[in-house]
Amino acid sequence: MKHFAVFGTPIDHSQSPFIHAAFAKQTGIALDYTAIEAAPTEFAAKLAASTLDGANVTLPLKQEAFALCTSTTSRAQRARAVNTLIRDGEGWRGDNTDGIGLVRDLTERHGMDLRQRRVLLLGAGGAAHGVAPALLDAGIHELMIVNRNPERADALADALGEPARVHARGWEVVPKLGSYDLIINATSALVNGDMLKLPMALVEKRSIAVDLSYGEVAVSFLAWARAAGCAKAFDGLGMLVEQAAESFLLWHGVRPETDDVFAELSARSAGLFTAD
Ligand code: ATR
Repeated sequence: MKHFAVFGTPIDHSQSPFIHAAFAKQTGIALDYTAIEAAPTEFAAKLAASTLDGANVTLPLKQEAFALCTSTTSRAQRARAVNTLIRDGEGWRGDNTDGIGLVRDLTERHGMDLRQRRVLLLGAGGAAHGVAPALLDAGIHELMIVNRNPERADALADALGEPARVHARGWEVVPKLGSYDLIINATSALVNGDMLKLPMALVEKRSIAVDLSYGEVAVSFLAWARAAGCAKAFDGLGMLVEQAAESFLLWHGVRPETDDVFAELSARSAGLFTAD
């Protein structure tokens, strides 16, 4: 039996143990997968003390994970963040499946053709770093990164190294921007209890909006997107399941089917909103 875990804080509401247990059952692979609470100061020691074969890393540890790897894949290097650790002798190999997870959710679950699309990315933190390279690889036409701190938007644009397609601005330009095909909320504003002020003019009839977080913290962004007339608006639950399937593939050599797990998690989160 191989051993896996997800590290982060807070971690008690993580869906990853459920998702990986479902994948294990589906594929007949014996494994256990737990959730380990770790603050940034504790993470390296807890990982070193473990006998894990692999791990996922979530907020706020993805940059720490990148720093402690003995090797990293090119997509982890472009994201400068790691969400998947694979034991490699005495050390760890780091990869990042967040971007491909988002792209698979958009293209396969939601039937979106990303080629030539104009994309607005709200935020320039860890979540934005994780998804931006994969969006460019999927053939989008333009990536407009808007961040409250414009220096972080510039830093992300510089790291992506594609000045013809990638632009960076401060939040004050938002009211002056035109409409976008895809609007991605990669900020943690709602997690912090802040409201995002977004104009309806960002949206046209075929616009799609996605919040990279899921559950209650995504509700107000998705409510704005629907009120503004987006063709589709959904949270990051699909991306979560798809990034997990990509991690599973790296560890076990098999990519599990994701539809049933996604359906079950969606039903559960729908219950969450109606429970009170
Ligand atoms: P994560 O890993 O979730 O991306 P992070 O690296 O702390 O977390 O980044 C959080 C992002 O949300 C940042 O882009 C942050 O903007 P700043 O870089 O200007 O701090 C953004 N954010 C957080 N609260 C926000 C708010 N109230 N309005 C707009 N952006 C906000």
